[in-house]
Amino acid sequence: MNDEPLVLGIETSCDETGVGLVRGGTLLVDAVASSVDEHARFGGVVPEVASRAHLEAMVPTIERACREAGVRLQDVDAVAVTSGPGLAGALLVGVAAAKALSVGLGVPLFGVNHLAAHVAVDTLEHGPLPEPTMALLVSGGHSSLLLVPDVTADVRPLGQTIDDAAGEAFDKVARLLGLPFPGGPHVDRQAREGDPGAIAFPRGLSAPHDLERHRYDFSFSGLKTAVARWVERRQADGEPVPVADVAASFQEAVVDVLTRKAVAACRENGVDHLLIGGGVAANSRLRAVAQERCDAAGITLRVPRPGLCTDNGAMVAALGAQLLARGRTPSALDLPADSSMPVELVRA
Ligand code: KG4
Ligand code: ZN
Repeated sequence: MNDEPLVLGIETSCDETGVGLVRGGTLLVDAVASSVDEHARFGGVVPEVASRAHLEAMVPTIERACREAGVRLQDVDAVAVTSGPGLAGALLVGVAAAKALSVGLGVPLFGVNHLAAHVAVDTLEHGPLPEPTMALLVSGGHSSLLLVPDVTADVRPLGQTIDDAAGEAFDKVARLLGLPFPGGPHVDRQAREGDPGAIAFPRGLSAPHDLERHRYDFSFSGLKTAVARWVERRQADGEPVPVADVAASFQEAVVDVLTRKAVAACRENGVDHLLIGGGVAANSRLRAVAQERCDAAGITLRVPRPGLCTDNGAMVAALGAQLLARGRTPSALDLPADSSMPVELVRA
């Protein structure tokens, strides 16, 4: 019988209701109910629809997680929940459920930062995190470069997007090209048939004068507009839009900037491990270019499998388990759902 603590993690910051169970450093189950199909016809996540879907999915997803892991709720030793950042109403559903479980079961509660959880999840697949680790988090809601000396206590933001998130840019460009939402996987697939050098799209915040002020920051809004103008010009000329070439050239611009800045951040801060997380980490070109550039720079690359990169409950449970193992103080019962929780704050 394994007597390591059993931690239940709850994630509801966006459109995935995630419930994960982790024992010690081992993943038992990762149950996810997504409302993404309900948002597809709006071309983006609708907060009210997401909150309602979380309410409906919460209890069934907790029950499914326990059933699949072969544990009872009474066996849970601690509860962790995303307390921010994210959609306020969506976060509230998870935080309320976690408080109820914590009180009902008489176990400690950890309200955790969603971004730190994206970093912590990799331990479930690749073992303890090297300290420090550099983390590049890229999803529909965030694009951040974080220096992580200790994921349970010390996470330092080096840079972030100053406008759109990387995944948001994928979704918007997909829409321009007539591809379904969420667009990232469709752009990825189209790009495999296209020429990444066909169109020279701009690399945001990469010119020398931008690098002075925004060394590790990203910007994808100008790129998105450049793609839109290019497509409009073709259409105005009555020419067909070469979807695969546009997808490949756009993707190349995003991947080039992300990997270039992440590798520079490692080198300039003396960090030899890079972790990539968030939904965009599933991108095949990002994974390939990151591997090439890390190999060339002597950096070890860690990327969790795609199911652990997108939002899920296991990542929250993983961080909860590490907080517990390091003896960090649990959160108070009045912990807030904080939609703009600062990234430096690992737990509420
Ligand atoms: O982490 P995630 O599931 O949720 C957020 O916190 O946003 O990330 C979803 C984002 C979407 O924007 C989606 O288009 C993008 O990740 N994505 C991808 C790929 N798979 C998902 N972007 C590029 N290439 C992919 N293969
Ligand atoms: Zn996320």
